[in-house]
Formats: sequence, structure tokens, C-alpha cells
Amino acid sequence: MLEIGKLKLKSPLVLAPIAGYTDSPFRKLSSEFGAGFTMTELISSEGIVRGCEKTFSMLKFSEAERPLGIQIFGNNPYTLARAAEAVTGLNPDFIDVNMGCPARKVTGSGNGAALLKDPDLIYRIIKSVVAATPLNVSAKIRIGWDEDSLNYLDVLKALEEAGVSFIIVHGRTKSQQYGGNANWDIIKEIVEKSSVPVIGNGDINSYLAAFERLEFSKCAAVMIGRGAIGNPWIFSGYTPSVDELVSVIVRHLDLMIEEYGTYGINLMRKHLVRYIHGTKNAAKIRSSLVSAVTREEIVDILKNIEANV
Ligand SMILES: Cc1cc2nc3c(=O)[nH]c(=O)nc-3n(C[C@H](O)[C@H](O)[C@H](O)COP(=O)(O)O)c2cc1C
Repeated sequence: MLEIGKLKLKSPLVLAPIAGYTDSPFRKLSSEFGAGFTMTELISSEGIVRGCEKTFSMLKFSEAERPLGIQIFGNNPYTLARAAEAVTGLNPDFIDVNMGCPARKVTGSGNGAALLKDPDLIYRIIKSVVAATPLNVSAKIRIGWDEDSLNYLDVLKALEEAGVSFIIVHGRTKSQQYGGNANWDIIKEIVEKSSVPVIGNGDINSYLAAFERLEFSKCAAVMIGRGAIGNPWIFSGYTPSVDELVSVIVRHLDLMIEEYGTYGINLMRKHLVRYIHGTKNAAKIRSSLVSAVTREEIVDILKNIEANV
């Protein structure tokens, strides 16, 4: 068992938070395939403190998703601490503070990656969150705001001094958004300089690549986001046959229906596209799926997937 802070992980490959995708059903599926931990998407600390119903529905998780981290965002140390206190009552395995989201609606109000511009504020936020919960507290950062402000060593120092248990580093700047490549040389440098465990993240697309990145960077674990969408078996190192692919998709569909009722079928569509991407007759299957409404119709169409040999 790998130990990171108080967490015990069955694998050093962990699931990244991806808003709109890594909900409870997807986290459960990733965990079944061996993900070392899972995380919720970013959840508003203001929403939590106000007791907003929609926010609380995003905090739901099941035992099968453990170890599980709840990710909160905001920029007010007091509000984030009150949110951490409330979230502690739900008993997740850790609480992560988002310091990497580049979306304008998040950074525009000083949240997410905007925090990288102010290491002193980062220090105050983590200090106050750590004081508000007995759980491990982590931060998910990028390497800087842009190429001209690669202040990751200042951010690292602020996080360490404030008492963070581990750090997750996406090796891009905010300006890069999701373009270009993640900089694993910088992730490696952060690992060398950090006194707390570091989880590296960015552009891992296969099980093999995950272990290459681990080996190269000496990170405690690596985190996989986009590479797991439509591909949750990435955590197992096993490539399913076409029949197995269909049963994974049906399992995911059933988890979605269990979680959301028939609306789960609508929410499943973006996943379906990703699952069939790369199969031989993907275009044909995709166009048949557009008009499918029921679980049975979808399952019948999936039976026509052809292997890409
Ligand atoms: C659509 C989308 C939504 C994301 N949502 C979140 C989020 O809620 N919280 C977060 O910390 N990162 C979020 N990320 C960033 C990912 O967790 C990850 O850091 C990034 O995608 C790089 O890793 P990858 O190349 O393995 O995908 C999101 C990324 C994408 C593409």
C-alpha cells in the first residue's frame, strides 16, 4: 500500500477532477478499475457555506469511491475554512483546494489559478483550512500564471509552511489553458525541492506512460484526467475486447441511471462518444445513438460496435 499523508492508496495512478465528467458514477467505475484515489470536481466554498442545494448534490459520494477527496474553490480564507469544516462532516478522505482552474468565470473573481499570483494569500488560505479540519489538506496548482511568472517555488514554500499534506501539480501555466504540453521537467524539479509528497499531472494517455512519468519525475503518484474519459480501464493496464468494452459502457450507463434516473441517459451521451471513439464504425454508431432514447435502444446499438483490427 502506497501512503501519501494519511491516505493509503492501492495504486499510484489516481483520477483527476474533470468538471462535468468525474461524478459519482465515473469515480466508482475508475475505482473499480484500480484508481488509487478519486476526487470531486471543483465545488464552490460560498455555495457550501450558504447551504446551496445544488452545491450539496455535487458533494455526494459513495464508499466505493474511496479514498476520495472533495475539491473546494474560493479565495477567502475564512469562507474556505468554514466550507472545509462543513465538508469534514461528510467524512471524505481529504480536502483539496483548487488553485489551477483557468476558466474566466473562476479566475475573474480571483479564484482558481488567480491565486497563483498571490503566494501570501495561498499561505493564509491553507493555514486557515488546515486549522478547520483534522483531514489531510492538499492543493492542486499549475506551475504559474504565464511563462513570465513561473513562481512555483514561491507557491511551494507558501503551501509547505501553511501545512499542506501533499501537492498536486498540473505542469501547465494558466495561460496555456489545456494547450501545448505539460512541463514534466518542472514537475520533477518541484518533487526534488518539496518536503511533502507531490502528485504529477498532465497529458498521461496510457498505463505505460503513467509509469514512465512516475519513474522520470519520482512523484509519489500521477494523476490522469482526460486520458481516463471513455477509457477508465487506463488504471488497470488492461485493454478490453469489444465485448468487454460494451459491458463497461453498459455498467457505466446503469450507474448513471441509478444516480440520476432517466436523465442519466442524457448525461451519458458525452461519455458514449468518447467510449466509441476509435472503434472501426464509430461514425455509424454515433449517428444511431443520436436518436436512441432508452437504455435498451442504446444497448442494442452498442452490440454493433466493430473491433478496430
Ligand atoms: C473539461 C475539464 C474540466 C476540468 N475540471 C477540473 C476541476 O474541476 N478541478 C481541477 O482541479 N481540475 C480540473 N481540470 C483539470 C484536470 O484535472 C487536469 O489537471 C488537466 O486536464 C490535465 O490533466 P490531463 O492531461 O490528464 O487531462 C479540468 C480539465 C478539463 C479538460
